Amino acid sequence: MRRKPILKPLFSRFRYLRLAHKNQDFVSRHCWRKPGAITPVARIISNKDFMRKLFVTGGAGFIGSSFIRLALAQTDYEIINFDALTYAGNPDNLEGLDESRYRFICGDVADREAVGAALAEDTDAIINFAAESHVDRSIASAEQFLRTNILGTQVLLDAARARRVRRVVQISTDEVMGSLPEDETAFFTENTPLAPKNPYAASKAAAEHLVNAAHHTFGLDTVITRCGNNYGPRQFPEKFLPLVLSNALHDEPIPLYGDGRYVRDWIYVEDHCRAILNVLENGRSGEVYNIGARNERRNIEVATAILDALGKSHSLIRHVKDRPGHDRRYAIDPSKVERDLDWRPRETWESGLQKTINWYAENGSWVARTRNGAYRDYYAQHYGTEISAR
Ligand SMILES: NC(=O)c1ccc[n+]([C@@H]2O[C@H](COP(=O)([O-])OP(=O)(O)OC[C@H]3O[C@@H](n4cnc5c(N)ncnc54)[C@H](O)[C@@H]3O)[C@@H](O)[C@H]2O)c1
Repeated sequence: MRRKPILKPLFSRFRYLRLAHKNQDFVSRHCWRKPGAITPVARIISNKDFMRKLFVTGGAGFIGSSFIRLALAQTDYEIINFDALTYAGNPDNLEGLDESRYRFICGDVADREAVGAALAEDTDAIINFAAESHVDRSIASAEQFLRTNILGTQVLLDAARARRVRRVVQISTDEVMGSLPEDETAFFTENTPLAPKNPYAASKAAAEHLVNAAHHTFGLDTVITRCGNNYGPRQFPEKFLPLVLSNALHDEPIPLYGDGRYVRDWIYVEDHCRAILNVLENGRSGEVYNIGARNERRNIEVATAILDALGKSHSLIRHVKDRPGHDRRYAIDPSKVERDLDWRPRETWESGLQKTINWYAENGSWVARTRNGAYRDYYAQHYGTEISAR
């Protein structure tokens, strides 16, 4: 007998859920509990086989837009990008995407109704990039950080439970673990206690606690990724590396906090996004994965590397008053994601930096648009000096 067409989607959804459930069981019993590399079986049966629809938040920003580009290029996923388009959200970052599998919805993650209306019943995973992400702004005023980064995360977790979303991936940061000593023998691991030292980091740490609470209390399938400083195309120039780069391209002074010897662990954005995709598909539920490229650099080294690559004088560097409570050193031990998920960065510091420099040099109109308007006012207020409108 032929099945009525109206029941067909129901049957396939039911079958899908049973398979997904079986898969989860199988994977946790036979693969994930074993230490060491993933077995070939885990590679064959991964969440990937059951994922269809992703709900990406903050996808108009730097890393979210890079993730969407990568996921559309390398998978068959359909993607909803839910973004409030704050000053950091840039529709230009989404130009040229394959619209047959991609849709943009403008909305605030802390707005329960908006999230409820946008999150489709058949969403398989939420990947939460949405955040207020600039430490300096959090020092000037923390309120919006608490709303977006903490309340917004809780709203997404609640919505995920209500809609039975299969997995939530929380994009976190190494900053939640505070500051390391300068002696270069200590590293952040997944077991390093949370010890945030600035309001941005504190809000991201709070979000991690809420994610873990949803996993522990309600059995929600969650995974957290923690990464260091990303660099690459389409990063808003308020952040250190694109600030150096865009000022250097315009022959303008480069503000450097304090002695410039602060250490950050740099990773090319696409490498980070490949790791997130891997964690989404293969990461173990309830776990944290530190993602890093073993690439510690002092801020002064980053600035001089960019100036040298552009053939500009180091005299453009101006030491300015330090950020209050500036964390001295971040350094990630990425052994777990390398070992368990077989992930490695593809770019070296030199190749990633050259790609980044080329992108900014070739996308002058993108740079000019981001340096206009509100950013100019912010820059003048924060550094007490103007940037050009070019
Ligand atoms: N940039 C880094 O080096 C870095 C490193 C580690 C972790 N992270 C984390 O990665 C994520 C993305 O960082 P990024 O550098 O791409 O940030 P970004 O500032 O470039 O982008 C943030 C995006 O979130 C959107 N957004 C802000 N508030 C929102 C709200 N209330 N509702 C919906 N959308 C909202 C913005 O419009 C923007 O598109 C953040 O969660 C950040 O904490 C960033």
